[in-house]
Amino acid sequence: MTDKTQSRADQDRVVIFDTTLRDGEQSPGATMTHDEKLEIAEMLDEMGVDIIEAGFPIASEGDFAAVSEIAKRAKGSTICGLARANFKDIDRCWEAVKHARSPRIHTFIGTSPLHRAIPNLTQDQMAERIHETVTHARNLCDNVQWSPMDATRTEHDYLCRVVEIAIKAGATTINIPDTVGYTAPAESADLIRMLLERVPGADKIIFATHCHNDLGMATANALAAVVAGARQIECTINGLGERAGNTALEEVVMALKVRNDIMPYRTGIDTTKIMNISRRVATVSGFPVQFNKAIVGKNAFAHESGIHQDGMLKNAETFEIMRPSDIGLAASSLPLGKHSGRHALRTKMADLGFDLADNQLNDVFVRFKALADRKKEVFDDDLLALMKEHEANTTSDHLQLKRLRVVCGTDGPQEAELTLSVDGVDHEIDATGDGPVDAAFNAVKMLYPHKARLQLYQVHAVTEGTDAQATVSVRVEEDGRIATGQSADTDTVVASVKAYINALNRLIVRRTKSAPGDDVKTVSMRDA
Ligand code: KIV
Ligand code: ZN
Repeated sequence: MTDKTQSRADQDRVVIFDTTLRDGEQSPGATMTHDEKLEIAEMLDEMGVDIIEAGFPIASEGDFAAVSEIAKRAKGSTICGLARANFKDIDRCWEAVKHARSPRIHTFIGTSPLHRAIPNLTQDQMAERIHETVTHARNLCDNVQWSPMDATRTEHDYLCRVVEIAIKAGATTINIPDTVGYTAPAESADLIRMLLERVPGADKIIFATHCHNDLGMATANALAAVVAGARQIECTINGLGERAGNTALEEVVMALKVRNDIMPYRTGIDTTKIMNISRRVATVSGFPVQFNKAIVGKNAFAHESGIHQDGMLKNAETFEIMRPSDIGLAASSLPLGKHSGRHALRTKMADLGFDLADNQLNDVFVRFKALADRKKEVFDDDLLALMKEHEANTTSDHLQLKRLRVVCGTDGPQEAELTLSVDGVDHEIDATGDGPVDAAFNAVKMLYPHKARLQLYQVHAVTEGTDAQATVSVRVEEDGRIATGQSADTDTVVASVKAYINALNRLIVRRTKSAPGDDVKTVSMRDA
């Protein structure tokens, strides 16, 4: 037995396989830095995730380095890497994961008619490729996961045939991906039951479920598969992932905990760590959590209407099916103000999951005081926005905002006067535009000409009131490379320009690090 997944003796235990660092990172624009990946992996390990899919080692030098380092550092989790169905990918994957106390190779190939057409393989040729590649992986590592990509659109007879081949070749976990988020709960359950009934040797391995959320059913589909006999759930923090994302870890884990009466299965997750990791992933991926997202959304435990508030005061269970503390959310959050000191700030930051070193505390404290001067009360969400701001400004930035002044109002055109530091040299310009944000962005483009197209511009108020901070998210794209930026400020235009500059800085880093075809998002499935 090589890890917690190898035993079927404990029938109630569901293994949690987190793929935030692989499938999650495939979300356009969600690229994380090496250090951010190590930090998230450490948090996943500490919260009790059984298997961490740390990346796709053949995809880039950066991915290889991150998977190897995560493998070396992991304490409790099995570390897994992804590989297409060829020896080169599998060897590279093994080179990266072999350092782990408990390594796993995950190899896959698209088995549905649409996916078989891409490498132009017949059913027999593909079956042979599966046999060879799983055997090869198993000769390197005794913990091998195999996935028939697009399993939910694969002919049942062929699916049974290839799953049997993979089991005979030594796969210890068979993952059944709903790659395009096409299935529905009853069908997801039937598919697992069908495989358990029809495939010889199915009782000796673990079936996993891997669901995408294109129809909003990923979590329901994963849980239905578990009820039917799957014992590994593949998921990501905040449901991050391609297109509409993946099954969200926090949703399946809390559903199994809260509805243990009808789904009597256990996970090894320390749920009190959920909120911190959710916030951290939102920050480093640049993907804010939607306000009404189950479990981790800002409104998940908020009660607005009088009837609900009255009920809550009498008995929290009237309108809450779990306690905020179950996911590590402090029940009441006392705001800080301009008289609060360093000690209070450090303690509050630690509660929010940030262990600040002295120099970081100094920087954040200065920002906190400046904010507290402008705002009466500084809430947890203000502090989280402040941390994003601190992190965005501590990377070695090519572009830095020095000064911005805008003229706006009913009498256009709106104007922006901008001073921007480009590689340490200050430049100034005046620009006009259709609104103050447009004018300010035009000024940035004039001082730093580029081809990047603005793909997304989003503004959220962090807290209530007209003095609330605005967090702005910006996504830009240039030659297939995507970068996101975020920033917060009580001045929406300043937050917008900082977010834009932050995205451009990240794009500049990506330009220097990789050719456009050099990352996970563009590794072709054709070679699989
Ligand atoms: O969605 C999918 O099919 C995948 C595979 C690589 C397992 O992510
Ligand atoms: Zn996937």
